[in-house]
Amino acid sequence: MGSIEPIETASVDELRALQLARMRDVVRRAYDQVPHYRKRFDAAGVHPDDLLRLEDIVKFPLTAKDDLRQNYPFGMFAVPMEQIVRIHASSGTTGKPTVVGYTKNDIETWSRLMARSIRAAGGRASDKIHVAYGYGLFTGGLGAHYGGEYLGAAVIPVSGGFTERQVQIINDFRPDIIMVTPSYMLAIADEFERQGLDASKCSLRLGIFGAEPWGEGMRAELEQRLGLEALDVYGLSEVMGPGIAQECADSKDALTIWEDHFFPEIIDPATGHPVADGEPGELVITTLTKEGMPVIRYRTRDLTRLLPPATRAMRRIDRIRGRSDDMLIIRGVNVFPSNIEAVLAKEERLAPHYLLELRRPGSLDELDVVVETRAALGGKLSGAELAELEQRAEHLIKVFVGITTKVRVVEPGTLERSQGKAKRVLDLRPKD
Ligand code: DLL
Repeated sequence: MGSIEPIETASVDELRALQLARMRDVVRRAYDQVPHYRKRFDAAGVHPDDLLRLEDIVKFPLTAKDDLRQNYPFGMFAVPMEQIVRIHASSGTTGKPTVVGYTKNDIETWSRLMARSIRAAGGRASDKIHVAYGYGLFTGGLGAHYGGEYLGAAVIPVSGGFTERQVQIINDFRPDIIMVTPSYMLAIADEFERQGLDASKCSLRLGIFGAEPWGEGMRAELEQRLGLEALDVYGLSEVMGPGIAQECADSKDALTIWEDHFFPEIIDPATGHPVADGEPGELVITTLTKEGMPVIRYRTRDLTRLLPPATRAMRRIDRIRGRSDDMLIIRGVNVFPSNIEAVLAKEERLAPHYLLELRRPGSLDELDVVVETRAALGGKLSGAELAELEQRAEHLIKVFVGITTKVRVVEPGTLERSQGKAKRVLDLRPKD
């Protein structure tokens, strides 16, 4: 697993031929083995035999998280339990978790794709990889772990939490690569500073960050504070886990989607209709090889667009801006937490630790932005300095995002640190 795989540099025609053969197979398996798909396809008047070209996939119904929930826990599995060797689940914020089952081949594919991702990001078999994604039902820890081992690297399975120990292990074991959420990486960087250590002198050369939205401001911050190269990895448990798309060292600023295993489409989230490559919308994925729980046209809720291939045959996706269900509507303006994060990064006295408080005092939603000052400012700011900084942040948000907010600037360390995915929005609206 040391070098680039032939399919990564195959011709587009070869890739499309492979995709079509695999898509025909998976659509048939879904229809034959999962009653939910058979019912939905029959109701929509489509049959696996109707899939003659890749474009025909749009005739098949979309699948949503709710379909998985209705078949909780194992109703979407396409093989008997004897063939399942691993089960993961995604907690979500409301309701029942979604459950995913993997066969032995699925674990092999996932490991290979995660190894491919790490290698594309610049990882090598000779590297030591510190995995600080959580281990457990969450796919981050075990996904990164199996990928690192498959690559032949030395994996250090630290998991999330115990932040002092994270720093100790980085100092003592001297890993080359860290795999963790960007928000928890920031908490680890803070802990270096709290201990009086210079994080930029640490052994890490590469960070493979994902599982939550993060932007260029955060990339610059992490690269500068930790002295590493920060690359983006994307995935979701319902489709597999991490390793579905990866920012490659040789083509940064978009993520190559491993199209030999996942067929991507972009749809208009409001109508469900497909949009052309290059147009923004919601990412929909059909798994081409999964056995345990294939998904046909799964709605990820993630907003991005499809970009042309760069150094490989596969197309790329733009960084995820946010999820359609995370979108806030503030006096008619659509806002994602990532928009606010990008603006706060413009003010160097502010740290990237922030929380959005959503309120509804009357009939409209209002937003308060709570953000910390940088520890490096030292000492407490005077009342007048704080007020000036709050006004400045409110002004920047008004100019760049177009909404009026109330900003509260707080001392470093006030906001709770995430040990995994950061919670950026606190919904204080009355429950109706
Ligand atoms: O977060 C899988 C993963 C683990 C990806 C580690 C990358 C690294 P879930 O818990 O099912 O799976 O959450 C999936 O997280 O639909 C996105 O909304 C968000 N997400 C994942 N990666 C990114 C990313 C894992 N690079 C959900 N940028 C997805 C933005 C991301 N959002």
